[in-house]
Amino acid sequence: MRHDSPEFKVRMNDHIAAIEAAIHQHTPAPDTRPAILHQAMRYSLQAGGKRLRPVLCLAAHALFPSTLDPLPAAVALECLHTYSLIHDDLPCMDNSDLRRGHLTCHKQFDDATALLAGDALLTHALWLLAEAYQDVPAVAVGLVRDLGDAAGSKKLIGGQVEDIIGERGAATLERLDFIHHNKTAALITASITMGVRLTNAPAGAVEKAREIGLNAGLAFQVIDDILDVTSDATTMGKPVNVDADNKKITYPRLHGIEASRAKAHELTATAVRLCEELGGQNEFLVALVRGMEHRIH
Ligand code: IPE
Ligand code: IPE
Ligand code: MG
Ligand code: MG
Ligand code: MG
Repeated sequence: MRHDSPEFKVRMNDHIAAIEAAIHQHTPAPDTRPAILHQAMRYSLQAGGKRLRPVLCLAAHALFPSTLDPLPAAVALECLHTYSLIHDDLPCMDNSDLRRGHLTCHKQFDDATALLAGDALLTHALWLLAEAYQDVPAVAVGLVRDLGDAAGSKKLIGGQVEDIIGERGAATLERLDFIHHNKTAALITASITMGVRLTNAPAGAVEKAREIGLNAGLAFQVIDDILDVTSDATTMGKPVNVDADNKKITYPRLHGIEASRAKAHELTATAVRLCEELGGQNEFLVALVRGMEHRIH
């Protein structure tokens, strides 16, 4: 299956429709007290976005036979990711006014509501996993461990901390590597391992899934850094050229655009090779990982 084929697009659209419906189903109704909080959570969750992490989870779930519904796990990943974006955009972080083509949460509401909506989405993600998979405790524990690990102080938060510290410090390759691994690749890795954990996968599959996620996740952030230089705000739904303004350590800053593209290509090729080695019903996952390299927003 090619990433630009009609077959791929149909499958992608089907997954996104299922994810959007599941987001609606698995998050508190907007009139739940306090309504302002639940409206802010839904505002950012339902603003759109590529839904890459939940789609990766569904693609990984499709690899091997399963009797479990992957949609609550997919929603948990999108809640966690959306929380990280709401906080990333706050004035004390990247100070951004536009996200997913709309005003950022703190601009639409206010800083305190955005901070608390982010907190609530993070907590909701972990609660949802325990709630939805309580009848299969070993699976629930594996999912909570993966998500808690990826989102924790040594990974996503640690990456965000060094991303901020890096604005004032030396732009070294070692620090860039730490930031990319942790702020972005860790959650993309969890998206794939969580999908696999919901299946009857052969022994060793979770470890292989981790390697796929690492390579695809690093490629994803290299491309995010490239698009900040080469794209425009309308296409991206978020401001561009902000990394240079914020003195961020990025791949293009250290290596230039052409070497960054070559790096994204090499990482993608490794991820695709590992997907092929993993086997199972991997046609969609392979096409998805290939397509991630060619994204324009
Ligand atoms: C943005 O993620 C944050 C990064 C890790 C680069 P996405 O580019 O997946 O954002 P959405 O979900 O499509 O809005
Ligand atoms: C954000 O990285 C990563 C997380 C939110 C964890 P960026 O700051 O590069 O993301 P964008 O470019 O604002 O989407
Ligand atoms: Mg940031
Ligand atoms: Mg940012
Ligand atoms: Mg960025």
